Amino acid sequence: MPILEINNLSKNYGNVRALDNLNLRIEKGNVYGILGPNGSGKTTTLGIILGILKQSNGSYQWFDGKLGEKSRMKIGAILETPNFYPYLNAEKNLDIIRHIKGVSEQSFDELLDLVDLSKRKKSNFNTYSLGMKQRLAIAATMIGDPEVVIFDEPTNGLDPQGIAEVRNILGRVADSGKTVIMASHILNEVEKICSHVAIIKYGKLLATGSVGSILSNDLIMEIGSDELDRLREFLNSIPWIKKIDSKKGFLECNIEAGHKAAEMNKIAFDQGITLTHLVARKKNLEQEFMEITNKTN
Ligand SMILES: Nc1ncnc2c1ncn2[C@@H]1O[C@H](COP(=O)(O)OP(=O)(O)O)[C@@H](O)[C@H]1O
Ligand SMILES: [Mg+2]
Repeated sequence: MPILEINNLSKNYGNVRALDNLNLRIEKGNVYGILGPNGSGKTTTLGIILGILKQSNGSYQWFDGKLGEKSRMKIGAILETPNFYPYLNAEKNLDIIRHIKGVSEQSFDELLDLVDLSKRKKSNFNTYSLGMKQRLAIAATMIGDPEVVIFDEPTNGLDPQGIAEVRNILGRVADSGKTVIMASHILNEVEKICSHVAIIKYGKLLATGSVGSILSNDLIMEIGSDELDRLREFLNSIPWIKKIDSKKGFLECNIEAGHKAAEMNKIAFDQGITLTHLVARKKNLEQEFMEITNKTN
């Protein structure tokens, strides 16, 4: 069952097309990264699915549409650092947010532990480093034990130590079994934290899938013959072919690094299969992504 389905979502700001027919499907337990350079429409997407912004076109549905108005209660989000009170400590600040959310009184010990703020829970917010503030914000999203938590560029503006700490905590949140949706322009961060990724640029979806399948260093081979069923059966028997996708007129395979097109051609020929199409290429989304990011930053 998908937690969130986004169908042909578009958003125009005047004549800026921020989202262009975006389709996403996020399953329960996914740690889902929305990866794209600045201005690619990540925050716009999150704003729409949280009901803060209105889409120009398209639709989205939380929890199979079964929860309706109650959906919002199941979702914890920070789009920006929330307005904490500078002269109140972590516990008091969290308690105010608990109250606003209408969640019954609780101890925050576990949450503060999760974000490594237990030792500083009695210190006023204005004495916190940026990293600590961000960690408190993460704790705030978790109040009420939402099924889904949403983070927008959670490590923005932090120093390397702060980044490491926040990533660590996001890893823990993910391990707790919650569905996490995270927008980021940093490939490395998505690769480290996320199970799934959608890469977007100019509001358009470039690629989506498990992080392993999208961001790996595998080789891709497009392999075609006149008998695709027989070809598929044969390719299925080859241990170094990790994944086979049907394309129009050929099969697209993920190949373990080190195997060559010539080798493929030969073993197919030995089985009496004549290949009509054979193209090998490096799966270089990573490079592609870097180029995209560098251009716009
Ligand atoms: N309120 C707004 N008014 C006009 N244009 C906007 C507004 N918010 C965002 N945009 C534009 O929409 C595009 C996507 O922005 P955004 O969703 O913030 O991208 P990201 O979060 O990926 O950096 C950008 O071109 C941005 O300039
Ligand atoms: Mg943004």
